[in-house]
Amino acid sequence: MTTYRDLVEGCEVVVCCGTGGVGKTTTAAATAMAAAAMGRRAAVVTIDPAKRLADALGISELGNDPTVIDGPWSGTLAALMLDTKATFDDVVRHHATSDEQAETILANRFYKNISTSLSGTQDYMAVEKLAELHSSGDWDLVVVDTPPTRDALAFLEAPKLLTRLLDNTIYKILISPSQGVLRAVNRAAGSVVRQLSRVVGAEVVDDAIEFFQSFQGMEEGFRERADATLTLLGADATAFVLVASPRADTIVEAKYFLDRLGKADLDAAAVIVNRVLPALSVDLSRAQQMAGSHPGGGTQALADHAAAAVGDDDRIADLLSSAPEATVVRVPLLPSDVHDIDTLHHIATLLTD
Ligand SMILES: Nc1ncnc2c1ncn2[C@@H]1O[C@H](COP(=O)(O)OP(=O)(O)O)[C@@H](O)[C@H]1O
Ligand SMILES: [Mg+2]
Repeated sequence: MTTYRDLVEGCEVVVCCGTGGVGKTTTAAATAMAAAAMGRRAAVVTIDPAKRLADALGISELGNDPTVIDGPWSGTLAALMLDTKATFDDVVRHHATSDEQAETILANRFYKNISTSLSGTQDYMAVEKLAELHSSGDWDLVVVDTPPTRDALAFLEAPKLLTRLLDNTIYKILISPSQGVLRAVNRAAGSVVRQLSRVVGAEVVDDAIEFFQSFQGMEEGFRERADATLTLLGADATAFVLVASPRADTIVEAKYFLDRLGKADLDAAAVIVNRVLPALSVDLSRAQQMAGSHPGGGTQALADHAAAAVGDDDRIADLLSSAPEATVVRVPLLPSDVHDIDTLHHIATLLTD
């Protein structure tokens, strides 16, 4: 059975997934820190980290390059807070056949819209950033935090976001130069465009047409890139780590996540059960007995805690039955949030000891 330590030591990419609030960002940062403690060069891409954690890591500003964090580790630890728009701009510049083409796209209003607000763009750019850092050769391990989403596949499908848009029939019709051959189709497109214009406004449609037209020549590059990033996500040296908490609602979400990962022929290499209530020195029946015979003085709180902890164990067992192959780590609920380097280091130690 591999341990989380093996995973941190051997993997090139770790993707931390799970629903919001369970400790994904914390786990991603702690995983990179653990790798740095092993002497590796580790970078973590965080998404909307808690402000105090971002401050502690020195990444309170959105950034497109990792910031190196000094600390008592023999390797290198670096972090960045994903800037979706700036990353998308970089991707466009990278694939553009000329500066002019890049500038036309970047200035286009339709592009500005999709690069900031299209659902899935954040996932897409997280994967892009991951692929960029991985291929730079500067890092032994790249850890990526994922945007909060119910569906694991959102992340896996994100790289295809733009190519799917480009494959769209309407797009093909809109940019079709051969009016003669496609006259009938164009008539249909013309009516679609007219209807669209009525709903969203002619300007929006013009922007979209201009966007798709200016994209010509870049499709192939985008398609190849999407294939390459999907290959990276499915590679042996890439591990998906599911972060969950023992609370009932997040267990349901976590099981759904595992199910969706399975549908994509991927497994969660590890499941981190975060914020587990610490075990008590008394068991439930004893705690309840004490609460009955000596009410007050905290005995009821003790009984409540013991009861909650029992429920936790059952739910964790239920979750793990959906991921029998996964490495499991339980991280206790700490008395405080994880907002400074020392507490993060503590989590890193708990993960890999
Ligand atoms: N084991 C833990 N004990 C106590 N607090 C934790 C623990 N793990 C995470 N937290 C805190 O819980 C909050 C949510 O964690 P975060 O990593 O931001 O979750 P997510 O990225 O999944 O939304 C943060 O304030 C974090 O400091
Ligand atoms: Mg987060």
